[in-house]
Amino acid sequence: MTVITNIEDLRVLAERRVPRMFYDYADSGSWTEGTYRANESDLASIKFRQRVAVNIATRSTASQMLGQPVKMPVAIAPTGLTGMQHADGEILAAKSAKQFGVPFTLSTMSICSIEDVAQETQGHPFWFQLYMMKDRAFIADLIERAKAAHCSALVLTLDLQILGQRHKDIKNGLSAPPKPTLANLLNLMTKPRWCLGMLGTHRRQFGNIVGHVKGVSDMGSLSSWTAQQFDPSLNWDDVQWVKERWGGPLILKGIQDAEDARHAVNSGANALIVSNHGGRQLDGAESSIRALPAIVQAVGSEIEVHMDGGIRSGQDVLKALALGAKGTYIGRSMLYGLGAMGQAGVTKALEIIHNELDLSMAFCGRTSVKDIDHSVILPGSFAPWI
Ligand code: GLV
Repeated sequence: MTVITNIEDLRVLAERRVPRMFYDYADSGSWTEGTYRANESDLASIKFRQRVAVNIATRSTASQMLGQPVKMPVAIAPTGLTGMQHADGEILAAKSAKQFGVPFTLSTMSICSIEDVAQETQGHPFWFQLYMMKDRAFIADLIERAKAAHCSALVLTLDLQILGQRHKDIKNGLSAPPKPTLANLLNLMTKPRWCLGMLGTHRRQFGNIVGHVKGVSDMGSLSSWTAQQFDPSLNWDDVQWVKERWGGPLILKGIQDAEDARHAVNSGANALIVSNHGGRQLDGAESSIRALPAIVQAVGSEIEVHMDGGIRSGQDVLKALALGAKGTYIGRSMLYGLGAMGQAGVTKALEIIHNELDLSMAFCGRTSVKDIDHSVILPGSFAPWI
């Protein structure tokens, strides 16, 4: 048995254990995957300033996101089809986040429903991510369901009015549950642990949607369903519509541009997430870490700025905090843990990132998150964009 020491170990194990189409779904970007790769490689290019002989005996990574105390400023990102990486995946990830002390965000496109997650986490508040769909009655109902489940923040995604093409999903014929084609069956035969888990749960479809949207009993292909249902007309008036209906803390996800960040401030949202959807939408967009400083500079004093994209280590978290993010999110890092080892794997991913953040802060001479700023970064190591 391999000793798991980092997120890459979890990824390798997840690749072995998760059926091809779901592993590929998580581990892919749109078109050339250039933005997907840049999210990681731009983070890697940033260098720290090592400091020594600073008293680092007492340290804490504790912070707040949206006024909520967190053990470290790292939330679990909303990811579609999480319950296909591992049976009951959203429930397991939510339980792990609850125990660890970080926010969990449930995707609209989850397998376990809002109600399932609320029940299994015994009312512990989680965040809910909303996609705007053409069927506004369904969206209004979804918002009410999130309220009834005591979700403590709504994350409205703005960058998926249309779907970026992910070649692998099309080639794999991605669907939930998988279609019983010969290729799928052959692949499933090599994943006995996954199959056993799936046999033990009834949650194998999009739990928030199937049975709630008129005429939708089976998702068919994700891309054609998305094309039919997601609303390309989404605009800032709709953001107001959602905000008024929701009435609680609102986070806007998918901001890459300072002008859009200004709109986000004007909308009255509580936070925004600098994000290119993990490189899954506009291929050729700049990496999140590159986009972050200009947005922090433009609106950072007026709205809480968070960031996702490419975070695979505590060092990455530290770099994002240094460039002004008040919080970060892990999507794939969590999914790799889940696919590798279920709930224990998500906890492992959180522990790995926490430990790396704690030690990296200390090597930079910092003992607390509030003391992290630009000065932990070596000037010139990422000069072109700051
Ligand atoms: C949307 O949820 C995606 O697949 O990125």
